[in-house]
Amino acid sequence: MSLTNIGMKNLLIINASPRGERSVTRRLTNLFATKWIEAHPDYAIHHREVGKEGIPHVSELWIAAAAKSAELRTEDEANELKLSDQFIAEIKAADVIVLGTPMFNWSIPSALKAYLDQVIRANETVKMRPDDPQNPYRGLLKDKRVYMFFSRGNAGYEKGEYFAHMNFQADYLKTVFNIMGLTEIQEIALNGSAFDKRIYEQSTKAVYNKIVEMASNGKIGA
Ligand SMILES: Cc1cc2nc3c(=O)[nH]c(=O)nc-3n(C[C@H](O)[C@H](O)[C@H](O)COP(=O)(O)O)c2cc1C
Repeated sequence: MSLTNIGMKNLLIINASPRGERSVTRRLTNLFATKWIEAHPDYAIHHREVGKEGIPHVSELWIAAAAKSAELRTEDEANELKLSDQFIAEIKAADVIVLGTPMFNWSIPSALKAYLDQVIRANETVKMRPDDPQNPYRGLLKDKRVYMFFSRGNAGYEKGEYFAHMNFQADYLKTVFNIMGLTEIQEIALNGSAFDKRIYEQSTKAVYNKIVEMASNGKIGA
């Protein structure tokens, strides 16, 4: 993200799907961003395409580097953290974060996990408190709203539904954003693309309407 948009606020869109135009979640994040800008013209939009960028997994060098303070790192260690530094600067600069992600194998795409492993970093986005085992994380991000858009081929994953116990996507993501200090989270899911076309079309319309409302008001029903 360019940090040079003086006077503008930042809307960061994180797309986790590897798909382009066919992607359901990308359509949801695009619709939200379009409507958000109509209602909030003082925002600049930035994209982080985690599903397409081939983000590396953390390495042994990365782990050693992240455990040290910046002035003690070797040149190799500092280089190993460059991408992480860039992602963290970008997420810190965001006023609003819009995350679109498919469910992959009842969880999140590994590309999004690789991104989160680069971003959830001690003393950067979370402070560890070993003296307080029941409350060991203090989030270092603040004052950001997060909007999460989920898509799943099947349905029945919401709380109380028949596949809720197999949803390792939504609660996981909300938990890690909470740990980084972000608790103002709204979510919408579009489920069931693989099943009844008529029901899916109805769900799509309802979800699009909710997104338009959420982008205009900041919340559904606000
Ligand atoms: C590798 C892979 C794994 C998937 N795993 C699940 C799953 O566990 N449960 C489910 O309901 N749908 C699953 N799906 C379907 C996707 O969640 C669904 O097609 C979603 O719309 C994809 O997001 P996108 O359109 O933004 O790419 C999977 C799709 C792929 C390609």
